[in-house]
Amino acid sequence: MIMNEDIKEVLLSEEELEKIVSKLGKKISEEYEGKNLVLVSVLKGSVVFMADLMRHVTVPCEIDFMSVSSYGKGTKTSGNVKIIKDLDRSVEDMDLLIVEDILDSGRTLSYLTELLRQRNARSIKICTLLDKPDRREANIKADYFGAVIPDAFVVGYGLDYAEKYRNLPYVGILKPSVYGAEE
Ligand code: IMP
Ligand code: MG
Repeated sequence: MIMNEDIKEVLLSEEELEKIVSKLGKKISEEYEGKNLVLVSVLKGSVVFMADLMRHVTVPCEIDFMSVSSYGKGTKTSGNVKIIKDLDRSVEDMDLLIVEDILDSGRTLSYLTELLRQRNARSIKICTLLDKPDRREANIKADYFGAVIPDAFVVGYGLDYAEKYRNLPYVGILKPSVYGAEE
């Protein structure tokens, strides 16, 4: 594996991610048999996860994308969630599965699920690759999650710091010195 010099530790390797994602895909395929599944990827962090996950979903499904902003350049949610790109179509009678990279404070997803609920989706569930339960502020939990991780800022496999590192094929802990914090 090619290590990036800004990464302190690899948390999930490519091999581990592949196992996690195929297991999630299998479970989702079983539970969405006969439903109107739409995988809703939250841009941009979930694109890598989405692309891998959808290929492990064996039941018919549609995909769509939403883009929301909440972080800016820092490492914490600002609390203001803004819709940058909305879904392409109506979600009425659809079974939505929101695909997220990471559930942190939960503010982003709590805002999103509330918004989609008002549009009369038949069901709304959440599938997150990573879960940081220690940092939760909103009353929300994932229906499907890949891995529970400690409270550290991670990048790679879609996750960014200031829009960088999304292309790393693994999930790693970013050296705190990169964002100007103490080790
Ligand atoms: P929340 O609203 O605090 O749950 O924030 C969720 C969003 O914050 C995620 O979709 C990520 O884009 C971003 N985020 C939270 N924690 C991390 C992290 O450790 N690394 C990179 N992005 C993160
Ligand atoms: Mg992000």
